[in-house]
Amino acid sequence: SKALAINDLADMKQRGEKITCLTAYDASFSSLLDKVGIDVILVGDSLGMVIQGQRTTVPVSIADMVYHTRCVSHARQRAFVMADLPFMSYATPKAAAKNAAKLMQQGGAHMVKLEGAKYDCVSFLVDQGIPVCGHLGLLPQSINQLGRYAVQGKTQIDADKIVTDALALQHAGATLLVLECVPAVLAKQISTQLNIPVIGIGAGLDCDGQVLVLYDMLNIGIAKRPRFSKNFMNNVTSIEAAIAAYQQAVKCGHFPTPEHSF
Ligand code: KIV
Ligand code: NA
Repeated sequence: SKALAINDLADMKQRGEKITCLTAYDASFSSLLDKVGIDVILVGDSLGMVIQGQRTTVPVSIADMVYHTRCVSHARQRAFVMADLPFMSYATPKAAAKNAAKLMQQGGAHMVKLEGAKYDCVSFLVDQGIPVCGHLGLLPQSINQLGRYAVQGKTQIDADKIVTDALALQHAGATLLVLECVPAVLAKQISTQLNIPVIGIGAGLDCDGQVLVLYDMLNIGIAKRPRFSKNFMNNVTSIEAAIAAYQQAVKCGHFPTPEHSF
């Protein structure tokens, strides 16, 4: 079937069809996700943890991201490919543009994702014709500031800040938003308030789509699986069936359940 573009994701939000997203870092998994019908493949900087065995995503370089993005892009036909700008690769709008260009020209990404309320970077990239996905809530690249991976936006002040940032990112031209580890009620409010699709991870059922780290949902990660993830290998006998079960569960609104939400 026809390759998905960013406007197809916007249309899915409009008609209430859930967007499915999983991470992949190589051609074999990229091809499998594509075959099963996963809408968006995220080449996440989570590769620092699940591929490289680092404790955080902080050590991941733009060269690492370009390499894995290229591996993924080559193998996909239909899925929309999004790649993370890694830590410190978007400290200025100019740096962001230079590094986003590498992900797109050398890696073949269709969109780049960056963490936090970086309006200047977002609008500069969008001005250059680069589609941008924002990422709010838990920001793993800021782990050394946060101290630990925890639910964000629990107080009214913190929740209001995330809403304000989400609206500002949309205003700056972001055309997708990932919300990580926030209360389900907050994610629902933001998904309703924004025109752009909101993809949740640990953000409840009422987002416009869902994303998980592939190795977590296949239960082959090094670290303990986060509470919001789920072992989709549980009732199946193949990796393909596990990915298909996730695809089905997200499309039908059966994942995440309250046990996988905050
Ligand atoms: O790097 C990653 O896998 C991500 C997802 C957790 C959203 O950014
Ligand atoms: Na990431």
